[in-house]
Amino acid sequence: MSLEHLRVVAVRGPRSGFPVIVAVHSTALGQAIGGCRLAVYADWRDGLEDALRLSAAMTAKSALAGLPNGGGKTVVALPAGAAPDRRAVLHDVADVIESLGGDYATGPDVGTGPDDMVTIGERTPYVFCRGYDSSPGTAAGVMAALRAVVADRFGSPDLAGRSFAVLGVGRVGGHVLRLLTEAGARVVAADVDPSRRTVASSFGAAWTDPHGCLTAEVDVLVPAALGGVLTGETVPELRCAAVAGPANNQLDRPGTATLLHERGILWAPDVVVSAGGIIHAIATELHREAPERVAERIAGIGDTLTGILDAARETSSTPAEAAARLADWLVGARGPAVDYAAEIA
Ligand code: PHE
Repeated sequence: MSLEHLRVVAVRGPRSGFPVIVAVHSTALGQAIGGCRLAVYADWRDGLEDALRLSAAMTAKSALAGLPNGGGKTVVALPAGAAPDRRAVLHDVADVIESLGGDYATGPDVGTGPDDMVTIGERTPYVFCRGYDSSPGTAAGVMAALRAVVADRFGSPDLAGRSFAVLGVGRVGGHVLRLLTEAGARVVAADVDPSRRTVASSFGAAWTDPHGCLTAEVDVLVPAALGGVLTGETVPELRCAAVAGPANNQLDRPGTATLLHERGILWAPDVVVSAGGIIHAIATELHREAPERVAERIAGIGDTLTGILDAARETSSTPAEAAARLADWLVGARGPAVDYAAEIA
C-alpha cells in the first residue's frame, strides 16, 4: 500500500516514555488540523494505524466543512494500566507538534480536554481550544445534521416526537442528549461508564446498556463515543431508520457503508456530522468571527449533508461514496490559497 500521508512522526516521548504519534495527512488546502487522542492500545502500532485513519478523515472533514485546512491527528498510545504523568505526556506531544513548524495544529479529542490544550500551549502555539470547550460547537453541528437527516427520512426537520438512541454520553454526547430532549424528542442513552446515567436521567432520557442502545428501535441512532461501532456484525442487528452522530470513523471498513445502504438505513458520514468543533475553533480563533456568524457556519453542516444525501441518490451511490467524492474534488481542485470568506459563503 502506498503512503498517502505527507508526514508521519512516531517518537518515544523523552519525558513520558510513551509513544507519541503525529500523522499529517494533507496540507493541500492549508495547515493540517486534528485532535490529540490519549488512549489505551494493546500495541503502539494499533495507535499508529488509528492516527493514519483518523488524520485522513480529518482531511475530508476540513474540506467538507469548507475550511482552508488539511487533516492530521495526534495519538498517544498508552499501554493498559498506564498512569501517565499528564504534563510530561502533553509536553512530549507539544514538542513533536512544534517540530513540524506549523504544518499541523492540534485540539482536544478523545481523552483530552481544554486544560490539556493549555498545557500543550506552554510549548507550542499550534494548538486550538486553549481553555475553552469545543464540544458545544460540535454538538450544535450534530443537531444541524440530525435535522437534515430527519427531514430527508421523514419529510420534516422537526425533532419533536422523533426518537433517538445516543450511544456515548461524554462531552459531546451529553450536550446532544440535552438539546434533543429540549427539542421534544424521545431519547434513550447508554455509556460504557454507568455513572453517566445520572446525566441522562437529569434530562429525562431513558437509560440502557451500550448494546441495547445500539440496537434500539428508534428513528436515529447517534454514535457519540469511540469509532468502529458499525461492523458486519452490528449492522444486521440495527433497528433504526438512520445513523448520524459525531463519533469519528464509525465504519470498521468502507464496505460497511454498502451493508447499511442495502438494509435501507441512511448513514450520515461522520466527517460531515462532527465538523462543528473545528468550524467553531477556526472561525473563532483564526478568523475572529462574531458568534452569530460562527453559529451560521455550523448550521451550514445541515445543508452540506442534505447536498451529499441528494448527490448519493442521484448517482445511486452511498452517502459515504458521495462525501468521499466531494472531499476528493475539494482537496484536489483547490489550491492552497483559498479565500476563506468566499469559499464558505
Ligand atoms: N476532536 C476534534 C475533531 O475531531 C479535533 C479538533 C477540535 C481540532 C477543535 C481542532 C479544534 O474534529
